[in-house]
Amino acid sequence: MKHRLAFLLLFAIFHFSLFTFHSLAQVPVYLDQTKDIEARVEDALARMTLAEKIDVIHAQSKFSSAGVKRLGLPDFWTDDGPHGVRPDVLWDEWEQAGQTNDSCVAFPALTCLAATWNPMLSAEYGHALGEEALYRGKSMILGPGINIYRTPLGGRNFEYMGEDPYLTSRMVVPYVQGLQSVGVASCVKHYCLNNEEEYRHKVNVIVSDRALHEIYLPGFEAAVKEGKAWGVMGAYNLYKDEHNCHNQYTLNKILKQDWGFDGVVVSDWGGAHDLDQAVKNGLDMEFGTWTNGLSEGASNAYDMYYLSKQYQKAILEGKYTTKELDEKVRRVLRTFFRTTMNKQKPYGFLCSEEHYQTARLVAQQGIVLLQNEGDVLPIEPQGKKILVVGENAIKMMTVGGGSSSLKVQHEISPLQGLQERLKNTDCQIEYARGYVGDTSGNYNGVTTGQNLKDDRSPEELIAEAVEKAKTADYVIIFGGLNKSDYQDSEGHDRKTMDLPYGQDNLIKALATANKNTIYVNISGNAVSMPWKKQVPAIVQGWFLGSEAGTALADILTGDANPCGKLPFTWHESLEQVGAHSFGEAAFPGIWRGGEKKIIDEEYKEGIFVGYRWTDKQKLKPTFAFGHGLSYTTFKVSNLRSEFDETADGNMTFKVDVTNTGSRPGCDVVQLYITDVKCSVERPVKELKAFQKVTLKPGETQTVTLTTDKRALSFWDEQTDNWKAEPGEFIAWVGDASDRLTCKVKFKLQ
Ligand code: GLC
Repeated sequence: MKHRLAFLLLFAIFHFSLFTFHSLAQVPVYLDQTKDIEARVEDALARMTLAEKIDVIHAQSKFSSAGVKRLGLPDFWTDDGPHGVRPDVLWDEWEQAGQTNDSCVAFPALTCLAATWNPMLSAEYGHALGEEALYRGKSMILGPGINIYRTPLGGRNFEYMGEDPYLTSRMVVPYVQGLQSVGVASCVKHYCLNNEEEYRHKVNVIVSDRALHEIYLPGFEAAVKEGKAWGVMGAYNLYKDEHNCHNQYTLNKILKQDWGFDGVVVSDWGGAHDLDQAVKNGLDMEFGTWTNGLSEGASNAYDMYYLSKQYQKAILEGKYTTKELDEKVRRVLRTFFRTTMNKQKPYGFLCSEEHYQTARLVAQQGIVLLQNEGDVLPIEPQGKKILVVGENAIKMMTVGGGSSSLKVQHEISPLQGLQERLKNTDCQIEYARGYVGDTSGNYNGVTTGQNLKDDRSPEELIAEAVEKAKTADYVIIFGGLNKSDYQDSEGHDRKTMDLPYGQDNLIKALATANKNTIYVNISGNAVSMPWKKQVPAIVQGWFLGSEAGTALADILTGDANPCGKLPFTWHESLEQVGAHSFGEAAFPGIWRGGEKKIIDEEYKEGIFVGYRWTDKQKLKPTFAFGHGLSYTTFKVSNLRSEFDETADGNMTFKVDVTNTGSRPGCDVVQLYITDVKCSVERPVKELKAFQKVTLKPGETQTVTLTTDKRALSFWDEQTDNWKAEPGEFIAWVGDASDRLTCKVKFKLQ
């Protein structure tokens, strides 16, 4: 018996150890979750054939690239966009796939997120978007977009974070971290100098090194160095005569060498134009080279991509070794192990209550109260009659505008938001169209289901609104732009700053008919406001997404106290804009090369973008950068710093903020730095720190703001590096760039 037991025991031990050895020996390094990512990359790379390496560096469909079936590496799915997960299109075409499970939450466009000046909220935004992407099976979101608002005509400014590189830097980092915290890669775009739409495929930007490094790169640098972005999208335009999707200077030198970027450079769709440059100048994944996949190429048009069969053939012919290819594949594999192969990813959620809450909170905190003469706002609806006017009160805004267009589960319009909020009050709400703008209800095959057709003439529409306004207690106009062509949309810039569709006449007529006229501007860009003095209350409502009407009702009724601050200068006209002050060479550029091949656009204003320009020229904009009112009032006072000089550039400032009004509210304390004397011309002041504070009535908080040597530095074109010159500096603090109530001098030794 004993022998039998002993035998069985030995037999069991033998099989267990065999199994253990067998199972341990069988897990290759690249599949071993306990191994370091770089070891897994090298192991996978070593196992891949040339054909497999070529497969993973270019698209196989509109939004996906191949994995490696044989090794168990899944296909890699990307999707737009920066403020919501785009509905699925057909494998190889832009048309809708017709899914019924891909409706999403539309979060507010990123200009609204920037207007919150709230980095924590940006992290929440990125995290929520990441969960939506996870649920939809996407491993890379093609966003955030962070190109600088150089001109108020910029077609895609609504997708970006405004004019200031510091604000953009502080807001993009948490967004990237939040998104990637759930194992979804960001793809920060469009790197770089893609500040307009009209000629985006052909514009060759000429810009000083100072403007490049001080204005246009900091957001990307922060996203990469602090945010640890896993993806960067090359821009369509050229810089130094090379397309930015394969650009030696911006990709190989600055992004990968100087900044140490270890993720993937993805082309914009159709942004690759040359095999040798695509091989050597920093491009890692080629997407969307103009083909609908069906009418071009025999079997699969994606074989025609530069980084596809052409590249493979050139290697086999000995034109290239696999040196560059292996470097691209390493970056792609690293992305796989961060996303598709990442077993630690949490669960995804789509259209959850939390995501709607985040969308509503970002909208609430991003809406900017620009003007409120006579405290017309917040409205007091009890027993009142409110006339709501304007197409933007009813028009869906989540559909349209280009690649960031969405198919939402719901979108609350401004009119719906007010009706819902006031339904149990004895307030009467009427509606008048006021004007007719864009009645199409379709973008890229997504339909709004709205029929906005109205054949009445502008005169009839205005007459109807004015007649109703005469007997209303409040008139709330929702106007602005609407993401249709030339009205804040991808592919085209606006032609003027003016409001379209005759809205100016409507607004003037209504302001004359009713003293309690409130204008809510829905846009991603500033618009000219010739009637500003006649309209007591003006609100900047961005493209606010699914909860637009809810958030606007929150603000207009005072349920929420507005605390947004402008992320760009609201110029009176283009004459106040640096980009438009140097003729067409500066915007939109001068064509060169015969059959209009390239348009050279020289950023002649240099570093003087936005408030940097209006300060330099001593101009008074309609509303200043960082401006935003509240239903309460704040006092920013008692600015002090422990030391009045620094050796390393690190300074700590303290300032008191008091809520001197009767409502709780948030204010954004902003710190700007002036370099009193410098060997190069510098802006009058530059934003270098900010903090949002929430205060109860009467409450005072001490806010600490810190700066470092970079905050005192300019880009030195002699040494090709940052430089802070010893001498005197001034720190200005307040709650808008034109409301700096405190200042303190200090010295850099
Ligand atoms: C577009 C846009 C880019 C988008 C991509 C995919 O042309 O420039 O932002 O992510 O193509 O739709």
